[in-house]
Amino acid sequence: MRIPIIAGNWKMHKTVGEAIDFVTRLQEELGEWEGTEVVVAPSFIVLDPVAQRLKGGTISLAAQDVFWEEKGAYTGEVSPPMLRDVGCRYVIIGHSERRAYFGETDETVNKKVKMALSHDLNPIICVGEFLEEKERGDTFNVVERQVKEGLRGVDAGTARQIVVAYEPIWAIGTGKTASPEQAQEVQSFIRGIIGDIFSPALAEVIRIQYGGSVKPDNIDELMVQPDIDGALVGGASLEVESFARIVRFERK
Ligand code: 13P
Repeated sequence: MRIPIIAGNWKMHKTVGEAIDFVTRLQEELGEWEGTEVVVAPSFIVLDPVAQRLKGGTISLAAQDVFWEEKGAYTGEVSPPMLRDVGCRYVIIGHSERRAYFGETDETVNKKVKMALSHDLNPIICVGEFLEEKERGDTFNVVERQVKEGLRGVDAGTARQIVVAYEPIWAIGTGKTASPEQAQEVQSFIRGIIGDIFSPALAEVIRIQYGGSVKPDNIDELMVQPDIDGALVGGASLEVESFARIVRFERK
């Protein structure tokens, strides 16, 4: 049984004040919510104040990135121990925006994944194809490469902590969601690759999220699919009402 995981990736939104207000209202709205893991991913400087507010509650905290060294002369970077120290449980790694604008590669993703795992941070590894790649019929090749390279050398003993997020780039912020069937096809393929790398039994416990224009009005049909175990939500995670509705997706 995989516990569904709904995560809000706030990207570069929300000041400290806005974030505190958001999580306070989200906690009130959800109450002692059970059955779905709820995660919010604020920007680095907002993590600590949000962590203070979330203490003792059921909402988990994620960072949006991490560096692959523990400490040192790496101006501007944030290490896994620093993230653990402020109470992060998860860290998003390899988001397509980081790959596109900040030089993230499969190799750096892999280094970050291994470093996060060695500090007991659960990586949410993002994979997904560009529109041109999809149109060329390359979706499966691209995703296979990203998953295999991202997980290269990862110890099977820690692999169950991993979450994979399938985020087709053409669906991010565009309003064009992959159809539930399209997402299911790719996500079932991803589970197969994870099974080949580790074991089919391990692939059965690793959660795979879908991301890309997830909204209150499409979450229910996405979550029906057997290999969609949750969502990584951008725009619709910024408002309490829409995010709470996504968390409370209808179980069919
Ligand atoms: P949108 O939900 O805004 O399409 O963003 C998806 C995303 O990139 C989450 O990481």
